[in-house]
Amino acid sequence: MSRTVYVNGEYLPEEEAKVSVFDRGFLMADGVYEVTSVLDGKLIDFAGHCTRLARSLSELEMQNPHSDEDWLAIFREIVARNGVEDGMVYLQVTRGNPGDRDFAYPSDDVKPTVVLFTQSKPGLADSPAAKTGWKVISIPDVRWGRRDIKTVQLLYPSMAKMAAKKAGVDDAWLVEDGFVTEGTSNNAYIVKGNKIITRALSHDILHGITRAAVLRFASEAQMEVEERNFTIAEAQAADEAFITSASAFVMPVVEIDGAAVGTGTVGRVATRMREIYLDETRKAAV
Ligand code: PDD
Repeated sequence: MSRTVYVNGEYLPEEEAKVSVFDRGFLMADGVYEVTSVLDGKLIDFAGHCTRLARSLSELEMQNPHSDEDWLAIFREIVARNGVEDGMVYLQVTRGNPGDRDFAYPSDDVKPTVVLFTQSKPGLADSPAAKTGWKVISIPDVRWGRRDIKTVQLLYPSMAKMAAKKAGVDDAWLVEDGFVTEGTSNNAYIVKGNKIITRALSHDILHGITRAAVLRFASEAQMEVEERNFTIAEAQAADEAFITSASAFVMPVVEIDGAAVGTGTVGRVATRMREIYLDETRKAAV
């Protein structure tokens, strides 16, 4: 059955939805996005995604076309129209269609293009992979220098994901100057003893909404959190590793570049953090 998608104020069957070939999102990857998960028909971590969207737009000097209340109404409507119980809402805002292709930004009277669609994923929170864990490889991080802005320039993360698939594993961890930055579309963590270690926030990584929640819950659960760089060798020698994202929640990582992490099975901390994250964010879902 055809999905209903949202384009610039209209809810349309996906076959009828159109964006201009002159759209700067298409020509220049000049746009930002958010992925928000839906569990039991409700939005997970919605406020965080709204706040980050506003920040990404502002960093690129783009207008935010809606207030947080308006966004919430649109998100709820697209979820309802598509009958999504478990899945995700994808939102993309681009700098729109100025008519001619030009490197300079157009004036503010060019309206941004706003697109939302949903993907249903029944049983999203019960992913079998959470029981077995992911295997990852490391590859160089050659993305641009403002990874804190959630732009739609996703070619290198796609190439990295393909490299992982070709290597027969689940994902790639990106490495710059000898240290892990993050996964292709997730934040990376290791666990040593009672301590969760993850790279500090900067322009080098996306400021994950799931990361913020997990670190808060970890501190509340009396776990130590250390925000600092780590290498692949340190990760391979850690007790556990995991990643976080809006679509995978907390996902254990059991192998890095062919070396088992800890016992090579899903660890206690990752399992516990996944449980806490899902419990707490479900309670706060809107
Ligand atoms: N990706 N790092 C990168 C590079 C990401 O693309 C993502 C999210 C994250 C985790 O952020 P959050 O916890 O806010 O989802 C970290 C989304 C899920 C995607 O592109 O599908």
